[in-house]
Amino acid sequence: MNLSDFTAEASSHAAAVDRLFYVLVGLSIFISLAVFALVLLFSLRYRRGSRAKRGPMPKFIQREVEIGWTCATFVLFLFIFWWAAASQLSALTPPKNALEISVVAKQWMWKVEQPNGVREINEIHVPADKPVRLSMISQDVIHSLFLPALRIKQDVLPQRYTYLWFTARKTGTFHLTCAEFCGTEHSRMAGRIVVLPPAD
Ligand code: CUA
Repeated sequence: MNLSDFTAEASSHAAAVDRLFYVLVGLSIFISLAVFALVLLFSLRYRRGSRAKRGPMPKFIQREVEIGWTCATFVLFLFIFWWAAASQLSALTPPKNALEISVVAKQWMWKVEQPNGVREINEIHVPADKPVRLSMISQDVIHSLFLPALRIKQDVLPQRYTYLWFTARKTGTFHLTCAEFCGTEHSRMAGRIVVLPPAD
């Protein structure tokens, strides 16, 4: 696996996931800096021997400011929850016209069958700019299909079908791997997904 799998936004979903990720990182950095700045400021202002006022806080800070920041962080939290949940839910519902590719996992390989009957092992060839739906099942233990460049991952279970869908936006070859420990050769249960121009 190389870095480009994590930097390439190879599906429309990838761009949405990355946007959310960068906003969360930005918010975390901003809040951490604010906390550190206040710790520093207060420890200087109220150091031993300083003449800063030490009585009770003014009334408006005790009530309004307390209620204000509690509501603000709560609403911010709800917004982030709604944003992340909406993005995940849309990733679970494939469009009706999706190309259906069947994937069977077993220790330790991925067996793939295209709608026209062509079979591949550890490789999935898909057209760009067309919705693709993977219907997946396992012959033995639990595996997990992870396509980092597309920012999607789904457990593959024995005796039950699970699904993934995506629309690849970039042509090229990307990494495909198993993301659930499934035995001795779990780390070698990998392959590639090849996104081709639709004409090919
Ligand atoms: Cu299959 Cu890990």
